[in-house]
Amino acid sequence: MNPDPVLETLNLTKVFPGVIALDDVSLSLRPGEVLGLVGENGAGKSTLMKLIGGVYPPTRGSIRYRGEAVQFRSPKDALDAGISIVYQELNLISHLSVAENIFINRLPRRRGFVDWARLYREAERILAESGMAGIDPRAIVAELPIGVKQSVEIAKALSYDAQVLLFDEPTSSLTGPEIENLFAVIRRLQERGMGIIYVSHHLDEIFEITDRVHILRDGRTVVEMPTAEASEELVVSRMVGRDIQDIYYKGAHEPGEVVLTTRGLSDSVLQNVDFSVRSAEVVGIYGLLGSGRTELLKAIVGARRLRSGEVLLRGRSVRFQHPQDAARAGVIYSSEDRKGENLFFGQPIWKNETYIALQIGRFATLGFTRVAEERRAAAEYSEKLGVKAPSLDTDVDHLSGGNQQKVCLAKALINDPDVILLDEPTRGIDVGAKLEIYKLIAQLADQGKAVVFVSSELPEVIGCADRVYTMAGGRITAELTGDAINEENVLKYCLQTTPSGGTAT
Ligand SMILES: Nc1ncnc2c1ncn2[C@@H]1O[C@H](COP(=O)(O)OP(=O)(O)OP(=O)(O)O)[C@@H](O)[C@H]1O
Ligand SMILES: [Mg+2]
Repeated sequence: MNPDPVLETLNLTKVFPGVIALDDVSLSLRPGEVLGLVGENGAGKSTLMKLIGGVYPPTRGSIRYRGEAVQFRSPKDALDAGISIVYQELNLISHLSVAENIFINRLPRRRGFVDWARLYREAERILAESGMAGIDPRAIVAELPIGVKQSVEIAKALSYDAQVLLFDEPTSSLTGPEIENLFAVIRRLQERGMGIIYVSHHLDEIFEITDRVHILRDGRTVVEMPTAEASEELVVSRMVGRDIQDIYYKGAHEPGEVVLTTRGLSDSVLQNVDFSVRSAEVVGIYGLLGSGRTELLKAIVGARRLRSGEVLLRGRSVRFQHPQDAARAGVIYSSEDRKGENLFFGQPIWKNETYIALQIGRFATLGFTRVAEERRAAAEYSEKLGVKAPSLDTDVDHLSGGNQQKVCLAKALINDPDVILLDEPTRGIDVGAKLEIYKLIAQLADQGKAVVFVSSELPEVIGCADRVYTMAGGRITAELTGDAINEENVLKYCLQTTPSGGTAT
């Protein structure tokens, strides 16, 4: 017999100026159940989570929690009732301990003083109950890996006696073992009768962890079904409203002459990196978190201080002091860190897209900006990348995660660079839009550009790159081409700690 739902939404609707973000969505969640929520970028997933989590009120419709109608006025309200959102950008205070974060604002006291012994005891109990006994409640949060920070965030929710947990793209910054760990915790919570909603663009995760899958498109429910009755093809086609077959795409280019090379590049992370990319070539860099993949891209454009080694552009040694210098020379880097490094919040889409271009003096005559031209270029690239927004003037804050990512790409490509260094270009992007980005990458190479992309997604590296470097421990561990670009090789070399110096074809 099915227990009563712990949570129900009835005809939930949210209208923002110019957008119906969520349109008449009804769903229910039972205790002990994991409901997967999927849909393209901008489909309304995060909005739904925020309505349930008390971040903002619905325009229409209602929420029932444990059989009663509720109206949360704030996330704190929802949390007190037992509903918690575990954000991808974590909300912890890094200089405090695990225990202090779990009980923040509610530290147990005795005669006015914090009762430390009890604090640590309580924190230990909560961590143990949800299978996180390995975490030291005294550890300082700043020193923990991101996966453990997320566990602390979950423990914090549990300390409020949460009945419902909402996960919005929880794995986007986690590595394989951390994801496994998260799943173990989720299963444990499920056994304890918690209701869980899980949002992800990674369908393999949806199939592994969820009981039912709810598909949204343009803010509306398309279908909901038991996960066991769904297939990946079915979910994708219902999400995007069409069939998608071959999602990877290599284009028709033949790599030309070498455009950019590094020789013996070393800094605090990188160790003696020799790397190169040719014109009309797509180079993939694959490595685990901490392998030095991001550092390599940053070192090339002058965003890191080199210890030794050099960067050559068309055979000539260059020493960029700043990514702006690199941009001026036609080498553009697009950071994986959307929020921290790439976007300017509170600024409209078009201003974000033309930011680098203005810095390097494009759209300017005698110190005056040719604004009409600037806007035209932004409009063109928004269209090219399929940025979904009411207008070019919409603040990037109001875009869905995936659409923010597309703005980042537009910001790089608008400069028509010869060398494009993309760090995790498809993070947070839905399957349909990924296909467009793979095509775009191939087209750039077809036009003769040198394209380098770092990715943690093995299939996209294998599917899109003409040549692959694997990295581990700050070193390049292998260079793969042709049939040697396969899953087995890439995984083998990215786990290797000593360099093979090997080239496989
Ligand atoms: N605060 C806001 N103000 C205005 N529009 C918003 C706001 N929040 C979201 N939107 C719009 O509502 C729509 C749904 O966005 P939402 O963030 O829910 O999408 P999502 O399904 O989570 O997408 P993604 O997969 O890219 O994260 C989008 O068109 C978005 O631009
Ligand atoms: Mg979202």
